[in-house]
Amino acid sequence: MPNVISAKELSKNDLENILSLTGVMEEHYKEGKVKKVLEDKIVACIFFEPSTRTRLSFETAALRLGAKVISAENAAENSSAHKGETIEDTTKILCSYADVIVIRHPVAGTLEKAEKVATKPLINAGDGTNQHPSQGLLDVYTIKKEKKRLTNLHIGFGGDLLNSRTLKSLMPFLRMYEGNKFYFLSPKELELPREFIKELQENKVQFEELKSLEEALPHLDVLYMTRVQKERFKDVGEYEKVKDLFILKKEHLKILKSDAIIMHPLPKINEIEPEVDADPRAAYFRQAQNGLYIRMALLCYVLGL
Ligand code: CP
Repeated sequence: MPNVISAKELSKNDLENILSLTGVMEEHYKEGKVKKVLEDKIVACIFFEPSTRTRLSFETAALRLGAKVISAENAAENSSAHKGETIEDTTKILCSYADVIVIRHPVAGTLEKAEKVATKPLINAGDGTNQHPSQGLLDVYTIKKEKKRLTNLHIGFGGDLLNSRTLKSLMPFLRMYEGNKFYFLSPKELELPREFIKELQENKVQFEELKSLEEALPHLDVLYMTRVQKERFKDVGEYEKVKDLFILKKEHLKILKSDAIIMHPLPKINEIEPEVDADPRAAYFRQAQNGLYIRMALLCYVLGL
């Protein structure tokens, strides 16, 4: 039973199979010929943290494929977790009702606990600052589609790298391909944890850490911006100090390559000036659309279809 808990657990073969299936899903969707292959299935989407894209695209993917959906969109308040039920008990119950379980939770490692008792395929829709594998998959699909390759790319990650589960879910996929170089662009307060950096060094991954966007922009094929995650700060004063330090401005577009792309997992707040949206290199709304195709493919993949 293939659960999708962490990007690190997927092999290059798994990744390429999922990307290939996603291409088929996109083609069928655009031709209006999606096959109802999940007609007899029920997908449960249980979200203990807010979401627009992930929950609604999983639900749309399920519905497009003919499945039915059961959903708790504010599960911290509206499920029996509010009364103190453990994630293990909640998972056992969901597995007795539905065929695939999609869970988002604010606490890193929760999905590993759920996996220990799950008897149906389980998909991690984001656990704290840890992992968000379906986002990593839609990101790598977007890069392949937009850049026509996954090798020899210069990829910059900008903003709140400390709290970014999307960076941690995309990097394992990009590291499978040769010649890629990474630029980590953040203020000191939001830099990647040192153990993450040490692991890259030990594995001879090519990367640089820089303290400004301007230094990296002319080199980049892909700029991946991230939101400063207010909800992860214990002290709102600390958030206020760093929230405006890394902003992609319209004037930056002049030094970005003409064929570069700008990505963002969304939601974005102020880290990208709204004027950037109109630039053809701004790929983030196309990226979010790809989330639907990836999640259609992922539901089929975990069900062995
Ligand atoms: N990118 C992403 O996970 O968006 P949501 O929080 O809206 O699901």
